[in-house]
Amino acid sequence: MTIEERLQELASRRLQVEQGGGERRIERQHASGKLTARERVVVLLDVDSFVEIDAFITHKATAFGMDKTEAPGEGVVTGYGTIEGKLVFLASQDFTVIGGSLGEMHAAKICKAMDLAIKMGAPFISINDSGGARIQEGVDALKGYGDIFYRNTLASGVIPQISVIMGPCAGGAVYSPALTDFVFMTKYANMFITGPQVVKAVTGEDVSADELGGAVVHAATTGVAHFVADNDEACLEKVRTLIGFLPSNNAETTPVSPTADPATRVDEALRSIVPENPNRAYDMLEIIRNAMDDNQFFEVHKDYATNIIVGFGRLNGRSIGVIANQPKVLAGVLDINASDKAARFIRFCDAFNLPLLTFTDTPGYLPGVGQEHGGVIRHGAKILYAYSEASVPKVTVITRKAYGGAYIAMCSRHLGADMVYAFPTAEIAVMGPDGAANIIFRDEITKAENPQEMRQQKIDEYASRFANPYVAAARGFVDDVIDPALLRPTLINAFEMALTKREGRPTKRHGNFPV
Ligand code: HXC
Repeated sequence: MTIEERLQELASRRLQVEQGGGERRIERQHASGKLTARERVVVLLDVDSFVEIDAFITHKATAFGMDKTEAPGEGVVTGYGTIEGKLVFLASQDFTVIGGSLGEMHAAKICKAMDLAIKMGAPFISINDSGGARIQEGVDALKGYGDIFYRNTLASGVIPQISVIMGPCAGGAVYSPALTDFVFMTKYANMFITGPQVVKAVTGEDVSADELGGAVVHAATTGVAHFVADNDEACLEKVRTLIGFLPSNNAETTPVSPTADPATRVDEALRSIVPENPNRAYDMLEIIRNAMDDNQFFEVHKDYATNIIVGFGRLNGRSIGVIANQPKVLAGVLDINASDKAARFIRFCDAFNLPLLTFTDTPGYLPGVGQEHGGVIRHGAKILYAYSEASVPKVTVITRKAYGGAYIAMCSRHLGADMVYAFPTAEIAVMGPDGAANIIFRDEITKAENPQEMRQQKIDEYASRFANPYVAAARGFVDDVIDPALLRPTLINAFEMALTKREGRPTKRHGNFPV
């Protein structure tokens, strides 16, 4: 064979792989509103940056007609490329090839790309669109999943791992995404352990695939999905934005992205966001956005446990993780889901050297039988553990209420905050004045000639004694009470002061996080 003939053979083999499951199946993929595996890679990565690995891998299966079944690319496209110049590794399952089902060699391709990502210290992105374990391959397919789960766990806290669900993701296949840091879903995606037919057979419940495990359900009800998007393009654009906030691995320092927004920006509008009446709601997002570079805040888990806000922003160019109570929803209480949401985010940031900025306005943990029986003790402990464990720079701003256990939980000085600031509107005490007056002045109130008047008098007395930031400031639990207009320069100054932070921890194999 001449070299020309050999090159021709190479080109024709490559073309065959690139055509995946063929025109008819590609058309079907497009008709269902989805891009193909390769088109997704092109949209996700910087132009012309994709380098494919293992294009020529084939399966070894023979049973159930597999000896006669060709699977170009083994149903998954793997390789590396860049996002805004940053190296990432990826796997993109090809639904046009045997339904993107995962066999032994399909899994081997994914594992090789994951191993390279861990070695090179680069994020790994998995685009899922698959019928699950390749039925014809039996236990070899299950081994493949196990190998991936094992690597997901080894890579956790070493490189950011992102799952993008763009089609079916069923059975044990859901557990790779569940082990990763962030899950994106499109409205064409489903995730469930057992599909509607099995549910019907076992429990008698009638439910559609979307009602059972569609993007809306996972974004708002289960919390499995951190981001949802209407289509593949919008989803992949969000992945690019997220990558921009993250370091490539746990040994890298906080990423910096230059900004023209002055570090000294003062904004008097901040003085009137917290209402004078402590019982009136306001939107904490207004305060967060105001402080961030270019007023940009990238919210994570936007539709889940909306009484707490988590997400990424930048201060003077440096990425930070923000956790904030949302007084607009349930008065900003902490509950089971809010604790889970915040704790997971805090641990991600700490693992990847992203400093933590906390805004506190919470009346406490949510009371009720539902919460107690749901395990609010166990779940609520996660926030305490995550903040205490975190050794990245931690800065807290108490805008209004910081009551009881929730005051401690929201990154108080006692859990290791490096700087704690309070707005003049802050109220820091064991409980709100109304509840406190009813308990400690009960006798005086019931015996008074005018109990109503006495009650109000005692509430005012308690409020003026404790519902302010100065008692905590007198003990050094609050480092300073600040004019809200100075929020941005104060925060930038604090985080820059903490750039050289070093904080030891006792040697251990690992702690026992309260799950
Ligand atoms: C082999 C599969 C497959 C699978 C789909 N295909 N899933 N082949 N193993 N798991 C093939 C189909 O035969 C078909 O081949 C092609 O992929 C496209 O599938 P369709 O059914 O035509 O597509 P659609 O109508 O869109 O339905 C998609 C689907 C359905 C909902 C995903 O295919 C389905 O229910 N598949 C089985 C899902 C499942 O039960 N998987 C096992 C889960 S358990 P042709 O040649 O016609 O194009 C699991 C265990 C993991 O994953 C455990 C890990 C610990």
